[in-house]
Amino acid sequence: MSQPDDLFKKVTAHAKEYGFVFQSSEIYDGLGAVYDYGQNGVEMKNNIKEYWWKSMVQMNENIVGIDSAIFMHPKVWKASGHVDGFSDPMIDNKDSKKRYRADQLLEDQIDKYTKKGKTDKATELETAMNEALTDNNLDAMRDLIIAHEIACPISGTRNWTDVRQFNLMFSTQMGSVAEDSDAVYLRPETAQGIFVNFLNVQKSGRMKIPFGIAQIGKAFRNEIIARQFIMRMREFEQMEMQFFVRPGTEMEWFSQWKESRLKWHLALGTSPAKYRFHDHLKLAHYANAATDIEFEFPFGFKEVEGIHSRTDFDLKQHQEFSGKKMQYFDPEINQNYIPYVIETSIGLDRMFLLTLINAYREEEVGEGEKKEIRTVLALPPQLAPIKVAILPLMKKDGLPEKAREIMDRLKVSYRCHYEEKDTIGKRYRRHDAIGTPFCVTVDHESLENDTVTIRHRDSMQQERVAISALSGILEAHVSMASLLS
Ligand code: GAP
Repeated sequence: MSQPDDLFKKVTAHAKEYGFVFQSSEIYDGLGAVYDYGQNGVEMKNNIKEYWWKSMVQMNENIVGIDSAIFMHPKVWKASGHVDGFSDPMIDNKDSKKRYRADQLLEDQIDKYTKKGKTDKATELETAMNEALTDNNLDAMRDLIIAHEIACPISGTRNWTDVRQFNLMFSTQMGSVAEDSDAVYLRPETAQGIFVNFLNVQKSGRMKIPFGIAQIGKAFRNEIIARQFIMRMREFEQMEMQFFVRPGTEMEWFSQWKESRLKWHLALGTSPAKYRFHDHLKLAHYANAATDIEFEFPFGFKEVEGIHSRTDFDLKQHQEFSGKKMQYFDPEINQNYIPYVIETSIGLDRMFLLTLINAYREEEVGEGEKKEIRTVLALPPQLAPIKVAILPLMKKDGLPEKAREIMDRLKVSYRCHYEEKDTIGKRYRRHDAIGTPFCVTVDHESLENDTVTIRHRDSMQQERVAISALSGILEAHVSMASLLS
């Protein structure tokens, strides 16, 4: 298989070629770090959402879902700390006019030292960087960039500005007349929509603690360093769940959610060696425990999901800023309190990228002159965009009509694809490339005895089955139920 960098390039090219992900506004040369999902991408993304939603909301009687608006009252972001604290330390190179995240430049330098075996220098820089970050000492960060002779990758010069904090939230105007309007933000996380609806859901759903509220939705961040394809985007999607618990029980729930979320990932058949937890030693001021679930991407282990014990910080802040009580009366202990919260927050786009990378294979198949490389996406069948391709062997003799009959029967329950162009071999390869787990071929025998051949994507084995058995075979492999039990 390819080198890691090579693999990543291949997967991104494959994603475009086969209708998974396109650069936004590509005909206008694209918009940085904004992407569109194509005809296969949207299906796979919806399947990931369905898997998450079902595992959270359908499988847990004490978790319900909501869909809150992207726009929220500006005070929400004051209360949450995003107006004052959601920023990155940035530095500009005066020659190239390019802007960089100061900590990212330092981290890249640490990586360079490590790769060159200069571990002492790497450790020294890492310690100094962490100190500067903890103290929010922007001058110290600039001093480190100068001292370690870090140059701009574009201009090659060390002509740097001061380091300044840049807020990551996008703002816009609400109302038609600019003078009358108030600035509103595009939400940088979906979580706050859950917190501000805590009382609404608790009261209208008569929810008893412990209970959770789940939501899937868009989030927006003006990421300055946007790279690695859909890994870091300016518009992305999150799948978040806030689990409200009695104070003092949060560590138990934190461990439980850690275990349960990793199980969700591994149920898809990914090797456990590809995953690890990264427990945070340095905690945000509102958290008393935090971990990331990291996946081994071709560019290293990176965060896919965060699990945070957020104490009562958010609800308390909203109580203070809104003046509305955010309390829960716990009949079991006869007490009022502001619940503590365990949050699970997974980036849908990162999960999508992980799924593509993990599935991408190039395999040598055939023998002698027929030897060739087939590119296959060995996707979990439940997440595959198309579940079954219906392929008449020829475009004549009533085979298309028979194939259409099968298609019409199956498409009510499964995303199917009908195709009659090109040789059967070429059609198989196209479906291998988009990860279709099954290809059903309709031939002359099908007309005689109502049987078809079904080809399995991964083994390429074919078997003859009754048309009436197709539904059952598909159900056994592509239904979400097998992932959820
Ligand atoms: N409510 C908590 C929260 O938003 P986060 O660690 O900032 O926490 C959660 O984000 C997840 O969202 C991350 O683990 C990541 O998967 C995803 N994410 C964050 N920023 C992203 C970006 N710019 N592009 C794509 N995904 C992103």
